[in-house]
Amino acid sequence: MWRAFFVTLILALTPHAILNAKIRKVEVLYEWKQVVYGFATKEDRQDAIDNDNLIPENAKPIDVAVDYHSKKGKRVFTTTPRFTTGIPYTLAVVTDKTEENGPVLMPYPDYSWHNSNGSSCEKITSVFRVAITECNQMIVVDTGVIGDIQHCPPQLLVIDLNTDTLSHRYVFDPSIYVDVASLFITPIALVSDPPPKGSCSKVKVYVADVTFHGLVVYDLELDAAWRVENRFMYPDPDQGLHTIANEKFILMDGMFGLASDGKKLYFHPLASINEYSVPLSVINNRTIFEEDVEAVPHAFRKTGERSSSCAAQAMDSQNNLYFVTFNPIKLTRWSPNKPYTPKTELDIPADPKLIEFVSGMKVHKNKAGIEELWMTSNRFQKIARGTLNFNEVNFRLLRRPLDDIQKVSTSNKFRQGPPQMDLRMRQGPAQMNLKVMQGPPHMNLRVNK
Ligand SMILES: *[C@@H]1O[C@H](CO)[C@@H](O)[C@H](O)[C@H]1NC(C)=O
Ligand SMILES: *[C@@H]1O[C@H](CO)[C@@H](O)[C@H](O)[C@H]1NC(C)=O
Repeated sequence: MWRAFFVTLILALTPHAILNAKIRKVEVLYEWKQVVYGFATKEDRQDAIDNDNLIPENAKPIDVAVDYHSKKGKRVFTTTPRFTTGIPYTLAVVTDKTEENGPVLMPYPDYSWHNSNGSSCEKITSVFRVAITECNQMIVVDTGVIGDIQHCPPQLLVIDLNTDTLSHRYVFDPSIYVDVASLFITPIALVSDPPPKGSCSKVKVYVADVTFHGLVVYDLELDAAWRVENRFMYPDPDQGLHTIANEKFILMDGMFGLASDGKKLYFHPLASINEYSVPLSVINNRTIFEEDVEAVPHAFRKTGERSSSCAAQAMDSQNNLYFVTFNPIKLTRWSPNKPYTPKTELDIPADPKLIEFVSGMKVHKNKAGIEELWMTSNRFQKIARGTLNFNEVNFRLLRRPLDDIQKVSTSNKFRQGPPQMDLRMRQGPAQMNLKVMQGPPHMNLRVNK
């Protein structure tokens, strides 16, 4: 039995698996010195100018999402939230036409969809991030805020990427958010009945409220949303001063990065070095939280600790969790079968200059079936300090295929493989939870020091 185990182990570790996987690089697909807004017609451009809404230096790209569409080809989307006025549209497709400052954006779905001054709430007001599901849906979370003014209630739009039309709208009820105090910045969507067998009706969207410190769960089947709060969603003041590429800035953002392995929701505030988790079975239960948004506090656990804070994160289908730490700047991952600690961060080679503040991160499967990590970097340290220099490249959309990492970490043999190994993996999380359960007192101790 032991001999069989070792033979399988050696087979899994050595030959083709490693040799076949080409080591992948982080590629820059698009880069900007300053955002370039394009328009379908002269009239649209003139309308933006007339409304004082074409001030490209105000624009900061935040997210990236990709649609590998069977008929329309690859489309790359980005967002420019309305932190201030001067933003002609907040959700865009990146075109392959390039001007001096970078590739030209086009409004998505089109210019008429964008609420330039907050007066039409049926349009899109301001978007930080979107999620694209395997059902060809884009989930758009609109904050409704321009600058510091809540012009419209936050809303969630489902756009059908086959037709580029609205298939569903959900306007959040005042019980779910607080005007201006809330800011819905990060959605992730989980589909429990995906194609080809499923009908894509069981979709849940988890949305981070970064400034009022909470999570919103939206259930498409029930067409209902509820709010979840927990102390782990708050920023840690000891982690609120950040350094990126030798520039210091304060950012006390709470609930920020989300990811899921289908069993748990993983999350972290931006001003934090910790990763937390909660079982989906808990937060999916509307009854529990309609009574009390702070219910079942003990279901929320500290799951890991990083070497440094990070912004966005994403998980692949093998449950590797990817993120870019601020200081030092490193693209890294946690593998699912080790506890999440600074020592178990597995660095992925990347030029730090390309990944200064990764604010958007997704895993998308390409046409060849290979999962790719997509990232937006926007040098937020310079935005925060007002030191952006528009003669330099400031904003980038990056891509890195993950097949090399995935082949090495789990070849087919490995996955089906020795029962012993599966057992160890299965026991892994339990031990981790155990440690975490004892955790909080130590954690508090450490924070107090
Ligand atoms: C807002 O924009 C719309 C469309 O451009 C325009 O008709 C309207 O007058 C504007 N409202 C304000 C208050 O500026
Ligand atoms: C949701 O929680 C309530 C209250 O704890 C419980 O009675 C109910 O069985 C739960 N529902 C599901 C589907 O787990």
